[in-house]
Amino acid sequence: MKNVLALVVATSSGLFFWPGLYSEDTWLVQTILTNDPQYLNGGCDTGGANGWCVQAYQYSGSKTNGIGPATLVKEGDELEITYQYDPSSGNTTQTTVLGQTGATLVNFTFGCAPGIHLADSIECHSAINNVPQHTYTNTKIQLSSPNLDFNTTLVADNSSPNSFTSTDDGTTWFIPEITLYATSCECDSSGNC
Ligand SMILES: *[C@@H]1O[C@H](CO)[C@@H](O)[C@H](O)[C@H]1NC(C)=O
Ligand SMILES: *[C@@H]1O[C@H](CO)[C@@H](O)[C@H](O)[C@H]1NC(C)=O
Ligand SMILES: *[C@@H]1O[C@H](CO)[C@@H](O)[C@H](O)[C@H]1NC(C)=O
Repeated sequence: MKNVLALVVATSSGLFFWPGLYSEDTWLVQTILTNDPQYLNGGCDTGGANGWCVQAYQYSGSKTNGIGPATLVKEGDELEITYQYDPSSGNTTQTTVLGQTGATLVNFTFGCAPGIHLADSIECHSAINNVPQHTYTNTKIQLSSPNLDFNTTLVADNSSPNSFTSTDDGTTWFIPEITLYATSCECDSSGNC
């Protein structure tokens, strides 16, 4: 799967975007995009409110989590994110390329199965009353075999694809734009957001 995310959000810090793929109750492979200044895991200095950190992440209920090295990106950067499953090894490789230059920012391989659902969560580690609407563009999905009902499997929390159609017999799928609606995050008195 491939999609492009343009980082245009200038907002309070503590925001996380988690675009990726998951398979019910077993694992998920996602990209962490955050502007949380405390999130320096892997040595990514977010450089203030306009800095963003991009990182590969895998969560598996029963297995060790995988996390790749973090890289600094900036507001206005266009990120092309790809998840490629290799059936011969059973591994998934996640890459993030900087759209403006073609430079590879993330290239990390996990041992995990192919994606079934698209995921696009938002997470906050502080109260943010204005997470603006944002979009993922040019999402392309290549299946190993045709499935003409594939577009009924999308789980789209707080978001909507503007169209999700196959460009062939149900093997290749294209979503020109996925809109994530504006939202807000509140924290309770214990600081849980
Ligand atoms: C990621 O690394 C693999 C193995 O070194 C390489 O074949 C591939 O071209 C790399 N992908 C990107 C987008 O740089
Ligand atoms: C990729 O797959 C091979 C063969 O299954 C395995 O030996 C290797 O550990 C995997 N690599 C990763 C990073 O999961
Ligand atoms: C699902 O994909 C089919 C095949 O491309 C298309 O005809 C249909 O309009 C799509 N449904 C939606 C809700 O986009």
